[in-house]
Amino acid sequence: MKAGKTLIDAVARLNSRGVDEPGPNAQWLLADALGVARLQLLAEPDLPVPASAMKEFEKNLALKEQGLPLAYILGWHDFRDIRLKVDKRVLVPRPETEELAGIAADFLRGRGNAPSALDYGAGSGAIGLWLAVKFPCLRLTAAEKSARAIACARLNAANLGLAARVKFVRASTLAPVRGRFDLIVSNPPYIPSRVIPGLSPEVLSEPRMALDGGGDGLDVVRMLLSKAPSRLKPGGALILELGGTQAPKMLAAMSPKVWKEKRTFRDFNGIERFVFGVRI
Ligand SMILES: C[S@@+](CC[C@H](N)C(=O)[O-])C[C@H]1O[C@@H](n2cnc3c(N)ncnc32)[C@H](O)[C@@H]1O
Repeated sequence: MKAGKTLIDAVARLNSRGVDEPGPNAQWLLADALGVARLQLLAEPDLPVPASAMKEFEKNLALKEQGLPLAYILGWHDFRDIRLKVDKRVLVPRPETEELAGIAADFLRGRGNAPSALDYGAGSGAIGLWLAVKFPCLRLTAAEKSARAIACARLNAANLGLAARVKFVRASTLAPVRGRFDLIVSNPPYIPSRVIPGLSPEVLSEPRMALDGGGDGLDVVRMLLSKAPSRLKPGGALILELGGTQAPKMLAAMSPKVWKEKRTFRDFNGIERFVFGVRI
């Protein structure tokens, strides 16, 4: 069997099962099974697919049909320019979160030597580890409620040569986190509990703890807004990623006695998704 024909059949299969983006999903899975780059696959439709690769591809295609995220099947996800190990222990980082990391980097650029940052709800470690790669002097703390997620993030830190530079803290509030930071950045769980059962099978295969933000989705967000000021240095910033309509509401809840320069940022879809404030 040739790669081109294999792809055409696989896309038809994924399409008939209503899988989103059948083309890219099939391409990534076949490229992975063949051990070639995705672009090579597209450039060489006559590439032979040996039986062993076909077996692997069929197995993974079936997982995709069942609604498993592509990143869990491949075992990795590219976040900006770093590759992270991801599996069922952690949320698959979203494109919006790459924008959050970019806003955090813009803030850190103006913060002098050896700034300190806390990535709260670190999951795979995506935001904080990317910042630590970009800022070799950054002192990073990664806090996370899930022990399983911390194990995954530790592995990512080690793979990126950052193990010695990251302090991991198991935490469900800011109480166990020591020190004051130039930056607290977080993509907390923010989906209201009642919405969770209606999410797609793909999202439901991710850890509930990473999604469920309680009654109105804002339990962890409110905790961060009330406790972050005591954990930020004067002039330090809090930057949060929130759900669809939550950012303006949370911005309004930030007291001007505590926060200055407060504003929201829109994501690439034009949604006010990120809340930013500098501690007075
Ligand atoms: C939306 S995920 C974000 C993961 C990662 N930062 C990212 O952007 O891909 C939220 C993370 O917060 C963690 N979490 C949930 N509740 C928490 C809490 N109360 N305290 C600390 N971490 C929490 C979850 O386990 C999950 O890893």
